Amino acid sequence: TLEYNHVLEIHKRHLSPVVTAYFQKPLLLHQGHMEWLFDVEGNRYLDFFSGIVTVSVGHCHPKVNAVAKKQLGRLWHTSSIFFHPPMHEYAEKLSALLPEPLKVIFLTNSGSEANDLAMLMARAHSNNTDIISFRGAYHGCSPYTLGLTNVGVFKMELPSGMGCQATMCPDVFRGPWGGSHCRDSPVQTIRKCSCAPDCCQAKDQYIEQFKDTLNTSVAKSVAGFFAEPIQGVNGVVQYPKGFLKEAFELVRERGGVCIADEVQTGFGRLGSHFWGFQTHDVLPDIVTMAKGIGNGFPMAAVVTTPEIAKSLAKRLNHFNTFGGNPLACAIGSAVLEVIKEDRLQENSQEVGTYMLLKFAKLRDEFEIVGDVRGKGLLIGIEMVKDKMSCHPLPREEVNQIHEDCKHMGLLIGRGGNFSQILLPCTSQRKLKLASKISLETCLLSPPLP
Ligand SMILES: Cc1ncc(COP(=O)(O)O)c(C=O)c1O
Ligand SMILES: *[C@@H]1O[C@H](CO)[C@@H](O)[C@H](O)[C@H]1NC(C)=O
Ligand SMILES: *[C@@H]1O[C@H](CO)[C@@H](O)[C@H](O)[C@H]1NC(C)=O
Ligand SMILES: *[C@@H]1O[C@H](CO)[C@@H](O)[C@H](O)[C@H]1NC(C)=O
Repeated sequence: TLEYNHVLEIHKRHLSPVVTAYFQKPLLLHQGHMEWLFDVEGNRYLDFFSGIVTVSVGHCHPKVNAVAKKQLGRLWHTSSIFFHPPMHEYAEKLSALLPEPLKVIFLTNSGSEANDLAMLMARAHSNNTDIISFRGAYHGCSPYTLGLTNVGVFKMELPSGMGCQATMCPDVFRGPWGGSHCRDSPVQTIRKCSCAPDCCQAKDQYIEQFKDTLNTSVAKSVAGFFAEPIQGVNGVVQYPKGFLKEAFELVRERGGVCIADEVQTGFGRLGSHFWGFQTHDVLPDIVTMAKGIGNGFPMAAVVTTPEIAKSLAKRLNHFNTFGGNPLACAIGSAVLEVIKEDRLQENSQEVGTYMLLKFAKLRDEFEIVGDVRGKGLLIGIEMVKDKMSCHPLPREEVNQIHEDCKHMGLLIGRGGNFSQILLPCTSQRKLKLASKISLETCLLSPPLP
């Protein structure tokens, strides 16, 4: 095996200079088992980021591994121009998890590719061009999806994103409006409001902003609207209840289709529901999924209605060499079985709520923990200078906490434009008692000055 310094040298000379590693001394990992990771020196870490919210059922899950090995010995690849049972079995299993009329599946290799295809579908079906997405949204880094992605660090000084329009993100913590029961989470913001339980003034204000975008910044008819049910990369940002439902209606009135990006929120991670859109009581026209779909194996999907699928087929002979690959589909099927057999959606609900309530105690105790939010095992902890200003905690200070957690054996994700939001998003497994103890010792101990 390669020596640590040699790895650093190879990285510097031969790999993308854009990819920056977490931590002062980048981790060199060797092995994974369920919720655990091991570095080359044999140190064990509790994985609280799961390969960016991707390892859904656990590292090297024995059942998924067994299925992968069996398929590996049988058939790797044919391309979808030949039929093979794993693809058809997978299509049947996945479609059974989606409501009518979302029954037609296009298989791709990544979330960006899935969203590219969904953009084409929206345009081909509506005959319109303009697509709306939220500020803070992350839908991919391909040249087409870059137009939808509105996280500052991913924007560049070159022409891109034709026909894409950003609208205000209805962020009830950081945005101009928000109160004490806006979001679908066990933990609310520290903001107060006097809304009755069945109304939300923040939602109404944000809808006015959405209408303003429709009136002023896009053509009279639009192609579509993309939304993550909860924003992932932006730091687990939740919209007020009822917002998406009204926004979907407004978009449809203007000829557009509504796309739910379930790349982070799908496959039971939110606990209460299998799909994020169900938590908003909406039915999208197109759903895109990736990450957790394959527990880390490269695969992704777009699911839509027969009508939209036909509109695309009329204009584009969509082809993808690897999409629907036998190995990917066999793994995808095994992941769905494990989610069901191991009750991972229920685990997400139970473990996620436990963690959210613990983190909320930290928020109440420490001035620098500004907000705790999320649902199930999609969780964000927003670090601030102080609760009055809500300015992001300076990067160096968040880095220090991040490093300290690593030294205590806990790997946590980061998000938000200033990388100020900690994202403890584990695989959807039940944590053992030992893990709960390390969680508390790491995060309930006072942050270092
Ligand atoms: C919500 C969301 N959509 C799309 C993508 C893009 O997926 P991929 O990196 O597989 O292209 C990501 C990746 O982080 C994501 O979080
Ligand atoms: C889009 O245009 C095609 C013809 O190019 C037409 O058949 C279809 O009905 C149009 N769709 C809508 C929603 O207007
Ligand atoms: C949008 O335009 C409609 C129709 O012209 C108008 O009634 C409405 O007040 C406008 N809303 C906003 C928020 O601009
Ligand atoms: C996003 O963060 C970068 C630094 O990471 C900063 O320069 C930029 O101003 C931020 N953008 C916004 C909109 O806050």
